[in-house]
Amino acid sequence: MSETPAIQMMGITKRFGKLTAVNNVDLSIKRGEVFSLLGPNGAGKTTTIKMLCCLLKPTSGSAIVLGYDINRDSEKIKQIIGVSPQETAVAEKLTTRENLNLMARIYGFSKEDARERVETLLDMTELSERSNDRVKRLSGGMKRRLNLAMALISDPDLLFLDEPTLGLDPHARRSIWKQIEAFKGKKTILLTTHYLEEADALSDHVAVIKDGKIVAHGTPHELKRDAAVMQIMVIRAQRIPEACIDELKTNYPFVKETAEGLEIRGERLVFDGIVDLIRSHGVKIEWLTMKQPSLDDVFSSLVEEEGAE
Ligand SMILES: Nc1ncnc2c1ncn2[C@@H]1O[C@H](COP(=O)(O)OP(=O)(O)OP(=O)(O)O)[C@@H](O)[C@H]1O
Ligand SMILES: [Mg+2]
Repeated sequence: MSETPAIQMMGITKRFGKLTAVNNVDLSIKRGEVFSLLGPNGAGKTTTIKMLCCLLKPTSGSAIVLGYDINRDSEKIKQIIGVSPQETAVAEKLTTRENLNLMARIYGFSKEDARERVETLLDMTELSERSNDRVKRLSGGMKRRLNLAMALISDPDLLFLDEPTLGLDPHARRSIWKQIEAFKGKKTILLTTHYLEEADALSDHVAVIKDGKIVAHGTPHELKRDAAVMQIMVIRAQRIPEACIDELKTNYPFVKETAEGLEIRGERLVFDGIVDLIRSHGVKIEWLTMKQPSLDDVFSSLVEEEGAE
């Protein structure tokens, strides 16, 4: 039983008119793991989560969530998962405690149990001091933490956290990380983030999505190993003609002009070859350096590779 994945996506696809927001995604998420979905704005992260939470119907394909089919058992799934949406969804006119209490009552907690659960969550998300403030008086980061507390009310086995640390200060971010780490092995968590550092610190597996398609998938270690084979060369020169850049592009997948200079990335950069090629266009190289790639570099290569202008 515990061997079956928490989530199994099977060709899940969502189209909005002509736009394919999520394109035939097959991912498997193990029980008890933290899985991060990374990708640029508009990549399809939220749309994927919404389909898995049964808030949006797939155009085609399906997914099994904790043993239930998203196309058939949406009511059941909604009862057993917790969701912290990207857009903070809390009642502004109610207090922090009232919001949580209301949620607990919706989930069928008795008055007493609700009180206890709410106190625990206020404490966990460091909101106790602001528990009697109306939500509209809270800061953005505090609302974000309340959003997370709301998702945790029913102590679900499966949590969807769409950008849980959006807009949080470093301290609050760390405390959410700690919380997520404490859930490791106990709850399955699917989170989205724009921060590679965050995905690296927390996740067992990471998938990078771009234009609705999965472009990389593995453990953070595997992604870093891929990063280690990538090299980055930065060249500064007076003016590098288009013809030269075009020729470089035919040999190397990633050539881009940056503030530092012309950046060339690849797995095996032939140093002499590049220098000779540039010189053959009559260019005088002023400065040249090799850079160690960071995970952010790998990520940007993945998401910029195709179709980057
Ligand atoms: N209800 C909708 N109607 C039409 N298009 C939509 C709708 N929801 C999302 N989209 C489009 O689908 C694509 C994917 O959006 P989605 O919100 O899933 O991206 P995301 O990866 O979560 O991005 P972000 O990092 O900005 O949150 C975008 O092009 C978006 O404009
Ligand atoms: Mg989103």
